[in-house]
Amino acid sequence: SPRHFLSIADLSSGELVALVTAAQRAKHAIKGGNSVPSNLLESLSGKTVALMFSKRSTRTRISTEGAVVYMGGHPMFLGKDDIQLGVNESLYDTSKVISSMTSCIVARVGPHKDIVDLAETSSVPVINALSDAFHPMQAIADMLTITEAQGSKDLAGLKVAWVGDANNVLYDLALACSKLGINISAATPAGYDVDPAIWKLAQDSCQETGASIETVHEPELAVKGANFIVTDTWVSMGQEEEKLKRLKDFAGFQITNELATRGGANRDWKFLHCLPRKPEEVSDDVFYSPRSLVFNEAENRLYAAIAALEAFVVDEGNILV
Ligand code: CP
Ligand code: NVA
Repeated sequence: SPRHFLSIADLSSGELVALVTAAQRAKHAIKGGNSVPSNLLESLSGKTVALMFSKRSTRTRISTEGAVVYMGGHPMFLGKDDIQLGVNESLYDTSKVISSMTSCIVARVGPHKDIVDLAETSSVPVINALSDAFHPMQAIADMLTITEAQGSKDLAGLKVAWVGDANNVLYDLALACSKLGINISAATPAGYDVDPAIWKLAQDSCQETGASIETVHEPELAVKGANFIVTDTWVSMGQEEEKLKRLKDFAGFQITNELATRGGANRDWKFLHCLPRKPEEVSDDVFYSPRSLVFNEAENRLYAAIAALEAFVVDEGNILV
């Protein structure tokens, strides 16, 4: 059965570094000469990649469709009105049928179990384009963005502070940091605690790399000494009905220059956000400041998608470390 990419937890530290390096290589090639590295040119020629999205998307859709085209393949976007995962047809039947005619399924789903079930049946690699538990291609782009900001591949010893919701983006970010030796501190409001089973995966990786990992309820504690402060929306897709309660519960969690100063963030701290952004989680004077790497981070999604397709489709999961 093919190797799937459902979470950063599926990668060894070496494989994660290889993916970030491949993304960086693709970026240099494309920015320099408008083409992917020579080994990837036409690497998906004659191949179809199904993009099954049961939720809306700007960055993930554009980056993945674009990546397939750069590699000479054909992206086939299937939105929730084209096929309804598990509504008109079971996930099992859908996965059987789509994988019999394509070379890869990139899927954005609700419950993570949906993508696990898809992968179990699929005869081609399944890549997670976001589930309620994980967002691995985002984490690759974030590690590339941090690598570029540092000007070095050795990220061990840096500190990433998360201030916000305990969600899909946090989990793969924490897993990526833990595998690269980056210390992580996550501040979430009381009652919005991290999933202990997922957090344990990151804690186990930290044991191997020597990185520290903690959860707190006070944003000031998380940002202390942080090189990067990161957040995401407080209201993820599917949580719209909880919006009013969440806005109340997350009071005091907005990322501002004042919070960073009060908490004692590193003088040169930088800001990351996967986007889309709402003003409540980060002030304009941070979001649109030179500290903010968000638009480069968004662009890096293209190179992360190329690296993921290279690793799991072209190289069939044999990632050279
Ligand atoms: N960051 C991200 O995944 O954005 P989209 O939801 O627009 O794809
Ligand atoms: N946590 C957000 C991420 C969107 C890219 C969501 O799941 O909606």
